[in-house]
Amino acid sequence: MSRLDSFIRRLSAQRDILNEMRDRLDGIAGPIMELGLGNGRTYDHLRQLFSDRRIVAFDRAARSFSSSTPDLDNLVVGEIKDTVTDFLGVGAALAHADIGTAHEDLDAVTLTWLPEAMAGLLRSGGFAVSGLPLEHSGLIAMPVPASVPEGRYFLYRRA
Ligand SMILES: C[S@@+](CC[C@H](N)C(=O)[O-])C[C@H]1O[C@@H](n2cnc3c(N)ncnc32)[C@H](O)[C@@H]1O
Repeated sequence: MSRLDSFIRRLSAQRDILNEMRDRLDGIAGPIMELGLGNGRTYDHLRQLFSDRRIVAFDRAARSFSSSTPDLDNLVVGEIKDTVTDFLGVGAALAHADIGTAHEDLDAVTLTWLPEAMAGLLRSGGFAVSGLPLEHSGLIAMPVPASVPEGRYFLYRRA
């Protein structure tokens, strides 16, 4: 598979799972955490799906498209491993992490802290959506939409 095809599959999977979250978050209170703001495309999509919720976005640098940049109260700049600690226990309904690199060594380092961070952000019953697989006793793996190829993107529910 070409890198272009792989990129398209990742973004389609991400969009399809997040779209499914629109209805599944009904009745689950709490903000949304976007780990890896990047260009802000996903943030913009989340904003459309969940226009009535607070969305907090994290990145090591603020370089998103100007119209897809959160206000200063909801933009957290720095290494997520460090900045996320201020938000543990926030009771998020949804946490999304698109911070994989496809470099096994870098992703292995990320996975030393990401599962614990995602579990710590969510309220019980909240959802974690991630491009990297999350192994954590408090995160229960959930089926993804049929359109998402196995192992391409991951969905969990907080116990
Ligand atoms: C693949 S991009 C996210 C793209 C985003 N979904 C969008 O719509 O543009 C990943 C982003 O996560 C950020 N990132 C990755 N690991 C990080 C870390 N450990 N701490 C802070 N930011 C990180 C990168 O700087 C990059 O902007």
